[in-house]
Amino acid sequence: MRIDVVTIFPDYLAALDLSLVGKARRAGLLDLRVHDLRDWTTDRHRTVDDTPFGGGAGMVMRPDVWGQALDELLTDPAEAGAGDEAEADVPPVTRGAHLVVPTPSGEVFTQRRAEELATEDRLVIACGRYEGIDARVVERYRASGHRVSELSIGDYVLNGGEVAALVMVEAVGRLLPGVVGNPHSLVEESHGAAGLLEYPVYTKPPRWQDRDVPEVLLSGHHARIERWRRDRALERTAARRPDMIAALDPRQLDAHDRDL
Ligand code: ADE
Repeated sequence: MRIDVVTIFPDYLAALDLSLVGKARRAGLLDLRVHDLRDWTTDRHRTVDDTPFGGGAGMVMRPDVWGQALDELLTDPAEAGAGDEAEADVPPVTRGAHLVVPTPSGEVFTQRRAEELATEDRLVIACGRYEGIDARVVERYRASGHRVSELSIGDYVLNGGEVAALVMVEAVGRLLPGVVGNPHSLVEESHGAAGLLEYPVYTKPPRWQDRDVPEVLLSGHHARIERWRRDRALERTAARRPDMIAALDPRQLDAHDRDL
């Protein structure tokens, strides 16, 4: 998969050289390119923003600068200029390119969204700053047939889309084949297919500061361990995320779950 991130703070994305995502990049599983939006400005001051029409606080990112950047990154060079049905000023749609715009006013970015995005060949993530990007940018790329997702990582406001882009690249990147060494660890985790939060986990030593690891986990009794983990996952989800319990399909519950 290829992911292009456009930002006025490329250094924010330096963390993507580290850990699993960094390893995936070096292994050629993820082609991640970070671009400075100011490289597409044409004025001496490399201006990317201006005051909002209609008044109000803050600045808005200019559509013309974003248009230059996204035309270049979303247009497949092999298709550019091909086909006479396209409007003169609208570049042809890249096969598979999906434009992602992190914004607190977007739909919520969930594990399901991460799974969907992980099936794409190409993502372009446009990081806004200030009060956001001129609304015509998203309209224009939708109108030319691009898939465009405006996504929020949660109900709080960050200073820009960069931290959200880090979150999205990591959540999507770890789903790419070969990135997580043991694919089984993707199956059992919170927000996975079971629709439950993950059970608590323990490691050595078996006794620490007068606290023992639950005995069943030392028993070697596989079925009892599985049952214990499922019960703890259900309890934890009910206490912390009643919304997830309410959303469970009754067919996801077994007879013992119903007694709990
Ligand atoms: N930009 C600012 N706040 C954000 C949020 N919560 N999610 C995504 N992008 C953002």
